[in-house]
Amino acid sequence: MATAPKGTKDLLPQESYKWQYIEDTAREVASLFNVSEIRTPTFEHTEVFTRGVGDTTDIVNKEMYTFLDKGERSITLKPEGTAGVARAFVENGLFNSALPVKLYYITPCFRYERPQAGRLREFHQFGVEFLGSTSPSIDAEAIVLADTFFKKLNVNGLKLHVNSIGCKTCRKEYHKALIEYYKKNEDKLCPLCKERLYKNPMRLLDCKNEECKKLAINAPKILDYICDDCREHFNSVQNYLKTAGIDFIVDAGIVRGLDYYTKTVFEFVSENIGAQGTVCGGGRYDSLIADLGGQDVAGIGFALGIERLLLLMENTGVKIGNEHAPLIYIAPMGEQEKYVAFKTVLSLREKGISAETDNMNRGIKAQFKYADKIKAQFVGVIGSEELNNGVIKIKDMKLGTEEQVKLDGVYEYLRIKKND
Ligand code: HAM
Repeated sequence: MATAPKGTKDLLPQESYKWQYIEDTAREVASLFNVSEIRTPTFEHTEVFTRGVGDTTDIVNKEMYTFLDKGERSITLKPEGTAGVARAFVENGLFNSALPVKLYYITPCFRYERPQAGRLREFHQFGVEFLGSTSPSIDAEAIVLADTFFKKLNVNGLKLHVNSIGCKTCRKEYHKALIEYYKKNEDKLCPLCKERLYKNPMRLLDCKNEECKKLAINAPKILDYICDDCREHFNSVQNYLKTAGIDFIVDAGIVRGLDYYTKTVFEFVSENIGAQGTVCGGGRYDSLIADLGGQDVAGIGFALGIERLLLLMENTGVKIGNEHAPLIYIAPMGEQEKYVAFKTVLSLREKGISAETDNMNRGIKAQFKYADKIKAQFVGVIGSEELNNGVIKIKDMKLGTEEQVKLDGVYEYLRIKKND
């Protein structure tokens, strides 16, 4: 029997309503912050990610699903959302629209990683990207949006860590210091880190290899090297966060695993979901658009993993939406009655009431069992007597009470009950 590929998951009805709830909340919060949806392709030309995410990152080096298509083009399934959005921004001339351009997406992403709790090969991100502003207020706005989303979902226990990783100018000195530090321990580095030490020493700080992780603890900290401009920006971001009443920890250990970041970086981290504790990560990327061939346009954004968010909500006992259930199940007791039930259900649906009836030729007892399983709030029975009198017997499944209602009054009856 065929099975789903390792690291992927089927989303079944007993889970999908939770996803709809998360997605609806994401869209609602995005709208509050005046952020519009963008949908970019599931795959891009590989260079979008090698240039965007960076060819010394773990994502590009080890984790991408890259293949040649039948036209011999190198194609990659998106490992993240930002680079594709940046590509779309440039290609579609969004620079000419009113700035800042505020975008959000809900998208599958693909990374060839070792699957474990909270880590999949196909996972899903809700992300936002704000393009065209260098103001520290917009960094804070992105963070506040994520925070608002978590609060709306009643998620608790997430800690916000913020840092600044400086700009191209101040990073030069920092790179020197890192190379100096790591050179002394070069023999302990993993092969990939040995290779990238001189090309991009900051990537050693987020290597997942155990030895490299140990070395990263005592490595020089970027905050000791950032220039006045970056420091001022970072201070201002913190002041905006304080203004928003958001708690945060300045954490020099947050460097993020993607090359496009400049200045502000942040993560929302949980201690309740095991090793993969980062639910949301983001930051500023002031050179990405130019690196992809566009104008000199700044950007800031974040993405959060929906699977990790759900894991956190489940582990901390937070209610995640309502399972779908029809308001009424209509149970016909004979052939003639089936037509009436069919018609009644259609007319209820037309008026916006979720209704269900028999399509399995079940007897009345089995129909009640089924109605119970699908959690219908009411069951309406149509037998020969009801058919002759143009009525339906409606049972409230929770209260156990029963009422006889005229067939042409079912909608009104349910409308009132629904709002009770
Ligand atoms: P990232 O930190 O690579 O950043 O991913 C963001 C989030 O996606 C993570 O915090 C995590 O919740 C989720 N995630 C990542 N990999 C996996 C996986 N293998 N399985 C399950 N969940 C995963 C980015 O992707 C950036 N594009 C964020 C960003 C947007 N920065 C600026 N704008």
